[in-house]
Amino acid sequence: MLTVITLSELYTARRSFAGTVGLVPTMGYLHEGHLSLIRRAKEECDHVIVSVFVNPTQFGPQEDLSRYPRDLDRDLSLMEPLGVDLVWSPTAESMYPQGYQTWVEVEAITRPLEGARRPGHFKGVTTIVAKLFNVVGPDVAYFGQKDAQQAAVIRRMARDLDFPVRIEVLPTVREPDGLAMSSRNAYLAPEDRRRAAALATALATVEREARAGSLRAGLEAGRGELAAAGIEPEYLEARDAERLDPVTELGDRAVLVAVAAQVGAARLIDNVLIRPRTARKP
Ligand code: PAJ
Repeated sequence: MLTVITLSELYTARRSFAGTVGLVPTMGYLHEGHLSLIRRAKEECDHVIVSVFVNPTQFGPQEDLSRYPRDLDRDLSLMEPLGVDLVWSPTAESMYPQGYQTWVEVEAITRPLEGARRPGHFKGVTTIVAKLFNVVGPDVAYFGQKDAQQAAVIRRMARDLDFPVRIEVLPTVREPDGLAMSSRNAYLAPEDRRRAAALATALATVEREARAGSLRAGLEAGRGELAAAGIEPEYLEARDAERLDPVTELGDRAVLVAVAAQVGAARLIDNVLIRPRTARKP
């Protein structure tokens, strides 16, 4: 496993790869969610490149950029046994040099949910991911359903800007009590860590009630469960999984139910994707 920092080192290593290249973009402090993406990339591609970069432009001024957990040595020791070929951990100065002023923005689908609470967040995400795609030139790039809106935004960007890359979105990896794995779970004090499981159980309730006939009742029950755990969500909303416009009932398209909440010191997000049941064959 080769670890590089500069762009020229990255280009040199990239040129030595024959065959298909899978890219797993991360901000480091890896957990099983990240590792599941790396394992899939390893199965599907001849070479796997993982980027580790805490991208400053996707953090708002009041957000957790300075305290975001970082431990590259630990990340490298988790990646090594998985057979990662190349780890790229660039510096902020090399990605955003003096005078930097070029941005990639996706419009409508970045406005609701996270976009409404984190102004500029998706502009930072799409810009860095476009840069990673340009530099690495992957055949396939792997993302997690955990960040459902991010995945939808990146799919849209890749399609709209003709990036010759296949976007793969893999299921959310969870702790035994259902809490979605996240580098930010490290911020949770023990009591908050216990309460945080309510996000996943509330989403499961929404799905169950929606499938039983009422999405509206499901959302209400989900809000009740969050309140019982002392969690006041920033949002708990049902939207079309691709277009992200609001929906009030399940229909013939996938529905995303997404939640965000501050739980103690951590702002957490989670979601469930409710796919339409395939019609029974006659
Ligand atoms: P980061 O939060 O480090 O996540 C890297 C990738 O891992 C993302 O695609 C994310 O959706 C996925 N992931 C996180 N938790 C997961 C879980 N529990 N199960 C499955 N996948 C999970 O997302 C980012 O970094 C950044 O925004 C990035 C895309 C790297 C751009 O800076």
